[in-house]
Parts: sequence; structure tokens; C-alpha cells
Amino acid sequence: MDQDTKKNQKELSLRARRLASGKNAIILAHNYQLPEIQDLADITGDSLALSIEASKTEADIIVFCGVHFMAETAAILCPGKKVFLPSKSAGCAMADMLNADELRAFKADHPGVPVVTYVNSTAEVKAESYICCTSANAVQVVKSLGVPEVLMTPDKNLAMWVQRHTDQKILYWPGYCPVHDSLTVGAINRARSEHPGALLIAHPECPPVILDMANAVRSTTGMLEYVNKSNANEFIIATEAGLLYTLQRQNPGKRFYPASDALVCQDMKKTRIEDVIAALEHERYRVTVSEEIRVKALEAVRRMMAVPRD
Ligand code: 13P
Ligand code: SF4
Repeated sequence: MDQDTKKNQKELSLRARRLASGKNAIILAHNYQLPEIQDLADITGDSLALSIEASKTEADIIVFCGVHFMAETAAILCPGKKVFLPSKSAGCAMADMLNADELRAFKADHPGVPVVTYVNSTAEVKAESYICCTSANAVQVVKSLGVPEVLMTPDKNLAMWVQRHTDQKILYWPGYCPVHDSLTVGAINRARSEHPGALLIAHPECPPVILDMANAVRSTTGMLEYVNKSNANEFIIATEAGLLYTLQRQNPGKRFYPASDALVCQDMKKTRIEDVIAALEHERYRVTVSEEIRVKALEAVRRMMAVPRD
């Protein structure tokens, strides 16, 4: 980045920060956001951590730099607050792979079996679910139910990962994240031959064959915790590229390599500082959830939040 662009970005960030404090707004950014958005945010984190922050904040406005389902989760948790998604079209391909009608049909095929839904899902789908989970707590959430069989939606890879850690039978919806699911054994072998001493850390949205190869499987925040504690110096990271910025910033003495250059979620890269400024100035794009759906979805999210994290 040249000096002029850096200076311009700094000025834009200051403007966004001034607007945020003038409006009693909090800026949240997911770990996959662009570096300048992570730097600008009050809090960065994984989807669970950001949901918890949203539920605790005393701010009147939440600007959620992430994708639609994350802002929707904040709206579910904070009915009295205005939640804005700076980039209107930032969605999640996995969340779009299951709608409420499809989930109702799935449930009807398995009467009485509780539904565990990954937070990467729409509010309508959460409202049809017994409990939510994230990649950080999915195993604990399923075990906490103490039932022999559960339905998991919408991510098949997360469900198959949970299946390896419990005797409960997991029936799952065949959704997936196109970014993580496209990671191949060939890409991992290439990365390993280029960085032979590096540990491989993978997100549970990756296919089982990749998780088999990993030294550790973690959510995005779990990866940050793992690296901070590890004595190793080099890591191959099998998740969206944005996390490498956070890892490098928190661990300047360690080296991080993407498992593949294709690990980029275009929706997570849509938000620019200008969008955050516009969100605050024009109070856009507001994310709302109807009260009927919100109350049901909240129950599923609250049940998840009551399950302890590792
Ligand atoms: P985390 O739950 O680790 O934040 O991941 C969210 C996500 O969208 C992964 O692709
Ligand atoms: Fe959705 Fe995948 Fe993007 Fe995460 S990385 S927001 S799961 S499409």
C-alpha cells in the first residue's frame, strides 16, 4: 500500500471512529474482514464472541462488519438497538443453502429429534431449531442435549466433525461453505512441501479428509488461542485468508501460510471503510427480524449461549 492510500485510509478511519462515538455506536468485525476494517473495529472475533459482545453492549447502534446472518444474530439478541450491515449484499452461501420450509420438511421426516443449527443460518431457520451452535462449541452443544440422535444444519462438514466426537447419531443437512469445502488434499500437500516444519490448523467447515490431516481443528478464535499458546513457529492455516492478518498481528515472531490462495470469501471482503462511514451517516443498511421469528430464534441462541465453551 502506498503512503497516500495509507494516509487516506487513516483519515477515513478517524472519521468513522468520530461518527461512531458521536452516535454511541459500536463497530464489530469478524476475523475474516479486511485488515483496515479489523483495525477500525472496537472488537474483532469469531461469530460466537461477536454475538456475546452484541448482547452485552450498551451502545445504541451496532455496525456489524461481517455477513448478513451475523448482523441478524445481533438483531435477534438486541431488539432495542439498531443493527447495520455496512455492505448490503454481504451474504453467506452456506446460510442460503437451507430455508425454513426445507428445515420443517427435514424435521417432519425425523419427529422428536432436536435440531442443532450452526449460527451460519437465517433467522427463520434458527427459529425452527431447538439450539444453535458455532464452530467453537458444536461438540459441547450436541453433547449437552444428552439425546441419542440429533439433526444438524446446515453444514455437513461441521456435522461430520461433531460425529467423530460423540456416540450420538448425527443426521445432517448437506450444506457446506464453498470456500472451505473446496480445499483439496493436493493444496495441503503443496503447502506442506513448501513449509515442511509448519503445523496445519483447520476450520471444521473443511472436508473430513482435510481435518484428518490437521494437527488441530479450531474455530477462528480457537486458532488464535492455539497459536498464542503453541511453541511452534510456523503454521499452515486452513481457513479464510482474513484470519492470517490477525494471527500475524498478534504473533509477530511466528510465520503463517495460507493452505491455499483460493481461501477467500468474497462476501467477507465487501465491506470498506467508506461503507462503515455511510452506515453511520445514513443509518443503513438496517437488519431487522420480525418479532415472531426473533423470539423463537432467540430461544435457540440463548440455549447455545448457556453451554460452556472449552
Ligand atoms: P467462526 O464461527 O469461526 O467465526 O466462523 C464463521 C464462518 O463464517 C466460517 O466460515
Ligand atoms: Fe459463509 Fe463460508 Fe463466507 Fe463463512 S467463509 S461467511 S461460511 S461463505
